[in-house]
Amino acid sequence: MTSKILRNRYKIISELGKGGFGTTYLAVDLDLPNHPQCVVKQLAPSDPRPQVFQIAKDLFEKEAKILHRLGENNQIPRLFAYFEEGGQFYLVQEFIEGYDLTKEIYPGKRLSESQTIQLLTEILEVLKYVHQQNVIHRDLKPQNIMRRKSDGKIVLIDFGAVKEIKGLTVTSGGQTTTTIAVGTPGYMPSEQAVGKPKFCSDIYAVGMIGIEALTGMKVNQLQTDKSTGEVIWKNQVNVSKKLSLILDKMISDYWRHRYQNVDELITEFRGTRYSSNLPINQPTIPSWEPGNNPSKSGLDSTFFVPNSQNTPQRKPHFFNDVPLI
Ligand SMILES: Nc1ncnc2c1ncn2[C@@H]1O[C@H](COP(=O)(O)OP(=O)(O)OP(=O)(O)O)[C@@H](O)[C@H]1O
Ligand SMILES: [Mg+2]
Repeated sequence: MTSKILRNRYKIISELGKGGFGTTYLAVDLDLPNHPQCVVKQLAPSDPRPQVFQIAKDLFEKEAKILHRLGENNQIPRLFAYFEEGGQFYLVQEFIEGYDLTKEIYPGKRLSESQTIQLLTEILEVLKYVHQQNVIHRDLKPQNIMRRKSDGKIVLIDFGAVKEIKGLTVTSGGQTTTTIAVGTPGYMPSEQAVGKPKFCSDIYAVGMIGIEALTGMKVNQLQTDKSTGEVIWKNQVNVSKKLSLILDKMISDYWRHRYQNVDELITEFRGTRYSSNLPINQPTIPSWEPGNNPSKSGLDSTFFVPNSQNTPQRKPHFFNDVPLI
């Protein structure tokens, strides 16, 4: 793929990442002066049947439009182009110069309560916009959150819904379905794992990021209470009652027990004893330069077929509404 030119315009330079859903490349745009860098995401359905391809194409169109709208926010990469070529789907996005949050949150490093609250608030300010657009991110984790070099702001990448394309299939009854759960174990709450993500599923993921930041532990190092399904983390770190209550509510196993919207949560954080330190929409620019990534976690995005009967619920707020039966 390297050095291949797509659409006679986007020249692939190198691979940035390869996940279960597709491959991400660094490319340059040959049509613009100075050939600026861009990011090309390639994806295709695993099921090769033509009827699946047509449904995938419709889904791709729909989701590309949503990504384009999201990209109007300065803290989400802009979508420059989307197209199909050679049976593959491509998204061309703005290249964000910076680094991902695994450079700020990694095993053995603990952020203070105020640093954690500040970081989570920065993430939530962008997530608020995403939810206002009726979109659930579905794959929030340190690897999918970047810190932009130019202004130190958080940028959310790698939105989950487009990944459903990979899992599209046709059942034996001829019905098209996307019975997959997009997300990453450890950051993905139980309702999302059975294909029913909600807005508060993203809040769960942000809570888990906060716990990683405070404890200096990876999500997969933390135990879960077998009887309640709750993550056990407070034995790992000294934390104020107020913050532990907020985080516990964010990561409640039962979605109805969580904060239901981002605004409510931001208000809670403002009410902590660190509130006077809390910037409104102002980034934290770390005083240190990101070094080598000490923590390439083994956690990759994943999907699976929970149950062929268990078609994901389609509510108005869901990212896409591909025809599902
Ligand atoms: N817009 C972007 N600007 C700069 N770098 C990016 C951008 N998008 C992705 N990257 C880099 O490429 C890496 C992989 O991209 P991405 O997160 O989109 O896919 P992935 O996690 O490898 O795959 P999957 O889709 O299976 O989750 C990211 O961790 C990030 O370092
Ligand atoms: Mg990713």
